[in-house]
Amino acid sequence: MAIIRHNNKEHSVEAPAHAQLYNVLRTRCEDLSVRFGCGVGHCGACTVLVNDQAQSSCNTPLWSVDRAEIKTPKDLQNDPIGRVVLEAFLSEQAAQCGYCINGILMRLTGLFKSNANATDDQITQALMRHLCRCGAHSRIIRAAKSARSQLSSATAT
Ligand code: FES
Ligand code: FES
Repeated sequence: MAIIRHNNKEHSVEAPAHAQLYNVLRTRCEDLSVRFGCGVGHCGACTVLVNDQAQSSCNTPLWSVDRAEIKTPKDLQNDPIGRVVLEAFLSEQAAQCGYCINGILMRLTGLFKSNANATDDQITQALMRHLCRCGAHSRIIRAAKSARSQLSSATAT
């Protein structure tokens, strides 16, 4: 058994210690905002925040997140930084099919939580392991930069 705080709600999860976090979130917490792609930590689709750090949930065993704070795309609009990132993606119309976007939103939210002034290079590095089959990369980067300029001007005031 493990205890996780999922989007500010505590859950006692009866599952094997090696159960993967994405599976727990989708099946026990009924959170379908966590997407599944490669299943081996290579595509970024399943990214969530664990204690404000972005990480893929398909290769995160339940035992390693006991008592951790987990945030997922489902609750992003209630996070002050996540909301800015989300709105930038909507206004730049950065998604095509949108499948990759949930993980990317979480990755960028994690990045801007640790550094609202992330450089272009740091944004590119953060997104390096996120695959987008639609090839929407240029709009994704544009949306990421737009979110950064809003967040960095907010921290400057
Ligand atoms: S599904 Fe987790 S990284 Fe691809
Ligand atoms: S928008 Fe379709 S996979 Fe990225």
